[in-house]
Amino acid sequence: MGTQHTGSEIEARQERLPRHIAIIMDGNGRWAQQRKLPRHAGHRAGVKSVRMVVEQCARRGIEVLTLFAFSSENWARPRQEVNQLMDLFMNALRGEIKRLQKNRVRLCIIGERRAFSEKLQKRIADAEQATENNDGRPLQIAANYGCRSSVSKASRRLPGLRLV
Ligand code: FPP
Repeated sequence: MGTQHTGSEIEARQERLPRHIAIIMDGNGRWAQQRKLPRHAGHRAGVKSVRMVVEQCARRGIEVLTLFAFSSENWARPRQEVNQLMDLFMNALRGEIKRLQKNRVRLCIIGERRAFSEKLQKRIADAEQATENNDGRPLQIAANYGCRSSVSKASRRLPGLRLV
């Protein structure tokens, strides 16, 4: 028989949980390679894991979840892989809306989105708009982020500081 937890035990356990979890998506390729599958299968499995993580974070009351999904360095990958990642992102943005609504998750894409195709930018804007009134937790997806561009952006907000 499973252990019974009182309400206060659950609260106490929740208090020890972090308020913000950030995950760097990595190892998709190695996961696929170990299973003799194409890299793309690893990326698809990555999206599936994200789905589980989002659901668990919503259930456990994690306030913010940030996923580092696609760095600016990732553009240097083979064209086919980049295209597949973009397709995956496009489909996930559309396919996950219902689930995000169910979990009351507000989607927010951070990073330099102007580098994405017009179609993808529109899909991002639509997904953000569709979830903007959700009163639950924000899910931040960092897409086309890079440490240099992030530092440079942050420095622009600080008077007298420039990245050279
Ligand atoms: C890292 O694994 C993962 C990525 C570079 C992409 C993860 C993103 C998605 C699956 C969703 C698509 C999202 C966007 C924003 C385009 P890796 O390939 O570096 O794995 P490895 O280190 O084992 O080679």
